[in-house]
Amino acid sequence: MRERALVVERHLGETTRRRLVAAGALRTDLAIRREGDRLAFPLHPDASVPREWGDVAFRDFDTRAAAGPTDYRSLLSWPEEQRELAPRAFDVVGDVVLVHLPSELEPRRFEIGEALLRFVPGCRLVGVDRGVQGPERRRTVERIAGSGSWRTRHRENGLEFEVDLERAYFSPRLAREHARVASEVGTGERVYDLCCGVGPFAVTIARDGRARSIVAVDSNPEAIALLRETLARYDFGPTISPVEARVEEFVLAATPVDRLVLNLPREGIKYASLVAPLVAPGGSLHYYEVVARDEIAGRRTVAERSLSAFGSWSVREIRVVHPYSPSSDLVAVTARRAGA
Ligand SMILES: C[S@@+](CC[C@H](N)C(=O)[O-])C[C@H]1O[C@@H](n2cnc3c(N)ncnc32)[C@H](O)[C@@H]1O
Repeated sequence: MRERALVVERHLGETTRRRLVAAGALRTDLAIRREGDRLAFPLHPDASVPREWGDVAFRDFDTRAAAGPTDYRSLLSWPEEQRELAPRAFDVVGDVVLVHLPSELEPRRFEIGEALLRFVPGCRLVGVDRGVQGPERRRTVERIAGSGSWRTRHRENGLEFEVDLERAYFSPRLAREHARVASEVGTGERVYDLCCGVGPFAVTIARDGRARSIVAVDSNPEAIALLRETLARYDFGPTISPVEARVEEFVLAATPVDRLVLNLPREGIKYASLVAPLVAPGGSLHYYEVVARDEIAGRRTVAERSLSAFGSWSVREIRVVHPYSPSSDLVAVTARRAGA
């Protein structure tokens, strides 16, 4: 059923749900839609919501299945105060669910795993996410319920990606970013996706069909192998080329392109400066970095100063993608190199 919707970032989901319930604006007979790292809440036709709560648009909603729990924590037969300690949020990657746990709940992690396995439709395996490590940002995961491997197929922006959560980086929280960058690619552009992982930027750009060429580079051979498997299921032809290489080596022989994506947030501006000469005059650079929240306002100046060693640059946008830690955010920077 088509209905007005309030669309918000997923991390704002619970706040939004509470606000809408309190305002009597939420249609509880329709199911909230998950759209990558955003959620769409069904609104009553006559409900008015403040602009700052999110984007209002129209969406097709499914009717909610009658009964059934609305929060996996209600499946935990624990005292209320203990249940409140369990994280409300979790990530879904294909048929795998990942959850971060506070240390006090470690002894009870298997009960949380079983609750999530029962709660999330289509879930096969549940793991505790112990974070990413090393230069290749491989995730450490511990199985707490379900069975099988960490290999899965994840749907995002209408595409299906081969993912192995232990062997190559992937985050379901970047879906909107992948689509946003792809939407900026102009007809005939040459694109580099450096530190491409399993290729969500590159494949989304290829699917959109405007780029003339896309070279997707990563030092992790397993990420490149997964990207090749994803590509084998599509027909993008020679437009997209996966390359197993370190960025430091790749830059030595590469020629400048119209758009360069660099998603290595821990290195941030350091690597952005390294690859800036590979952006042709008039071209664009998208890079990601983890920035202390109180430094975000000054980041434009820092970026423009660092990039200025390689031509004249203007930072077009600095946007927060999602919170990274209690005091820092993952930030997307879009910069443009002045034309010749
Ligand atoms: C944060 S992940 C980004 C993956 C992908 N762009 C995405 O959006 O899902 C960073 C990736 O950079 C790769 N990487 C790290 N250091 C690298 C280097 N020096 N050269 C090439 N790739 C590198 C890692 O293997 C990892 O896949």
